[in-house]
Amino acid sequence: MKMGLAKTKGSSIAMLPSYVPALPDGTERGKYVAIDLSGKNLRIMLLHLDGSDPPRSNTVNYIVANHVMKGTGDQLFTFIVNCLQRFLQEFGLVDANLPIGFVFSYPCELLSIRSARLLWWTKGFDIKDCLQKDVVALLEEALEMNMSTKVNIKAVMNDTVGQLAAAAHKYGPECTIGVVIGYGCNSSYLEKTARITKFDAKARGYDHENMIVVTEWEEFGKNGELDDILTQFDREVDAASVHKGKQLIDKLCGALYIGEVVRKVLSQLVLDRVLFEGQSCEKLDEVESFPTKYISEILGEEEGVFKAARRICEELEVEMHGTADYIILREVCDVISRRGASIVAAAIAALLRHLELSSVKIGVGGALIQFHPTYHQMLKEKLEELTPITMKFELVPADEGSCQGAALIAAVAERLKL
Ligand code: GLC
Repeated sequence: MKMGLAKTKGSSIAMLPSYVPALPDGTERGKYVAIDLSGKNLRIMLLHLDGSDPPRSNTVNYIVANHVMKGTGDQLFTFIVNCLQRFLQEFGLVDANLPIGFVFSYPCELLSIRSARLLWWTKGFDIKDCLQKDVVALLEEALEMNMSTKVNIKAVMNDTVGQLAAAAHKYGPECTIGVVIGYGCNSSYLEKTARITKFDAKARGYDHENMIVVTEWEEFGKNGELDDILTQFDREVDAASVHKGKQLIDKLCGALYIGEVVRKVLSQLVLDRVLFEGQSCEKLDEVESFPTKYISEILGEEEGVFKAARRICEELEVEMHGTADYIILREVCDVISRRGASIVAAAIAALLRHLELSSVKIGVGGALIQFHPTYHQMLKEKLEELTPITMKFELVPADEGSCQGAALIAAVAERLKL
């Protein structure tokens, strides 16, 4: 992390400047829109900041089609604009020219709070003609081509920045770290601008004391740091991914991948004749036949109850299965989840040491926090083990955080006239 703050190259953790100087302080008022693109989901939210607590919001989810995820930039941004237009029409806001916060949770180099150059795609996207381009400019072009109204993009950010903003709004100024454990896993935190030594604040006209830094810690491992802990199953999942060799932390911890890791382990246990008494299970050889939601369903059952495990074995088309198999299934789901949570805890512990704060709230969100029944507890326990006793921390969840936070950052940008 220290190396990433000092140099633009060399560290596997990029520590990217976000150009966001402050978190919401509760004085923001008005209506704001957020567009949040993450994986297959495009979420659009209208946030009403009128002093009510929690703030009122309306959200609509749209699904990005597979061919769009691997098509052209034009297709993707036209899709986003069409969804936005429908959304604004539904709420009678087509002419309101509302400020928008845009969450784009793929690694980007930010050139200002309104300009983000895409470094590479993750989470199954592969749209070559967008690489190295400014995604805000692409969105604005598509808006101009397709919409009669003008909208006002105030800020572009990584989802972890949104997560942090939402948690800070909910839990107060002690919350200075945001962690997303969703499809991928990443964090951002409030840093002293002077400590981002690679960032020439004067040359960039940035005169704020603080700045949110996006760690992009999911790339830890690209210089071989994780070689000792990668298993044959991890290497197979990596080899089959769109971005081989990249985003290893996502592949060990993220919801997009851990179902696949479990599937590979189970498939090996079938081969070893440990699971299903040696009956074959062809389904387990099919990619994504063990989605991550199975892990949550299995671990969500009380010990000794195997309703979900039984149903899942049926869905996997195993002819005969019984309690011994369900126990193995549960154990594998637990071990893979626990390993992921432990790695995230290690990363948070490193960040806490870097920050040397005596007391901090960590805003956590993402699918695994929201839907995995034991994740929060596992994360907390490991973090307690890894942090010095003098450091007080609290993990505070903010559901739908990234989207709400993006609208809040648009409000901060307006308040500070950025
Ligand atoms: C992936 C992306 C990162 C994002 C994270 C959580 O790791 O590379 O930018 O923040 O997923 O969605």
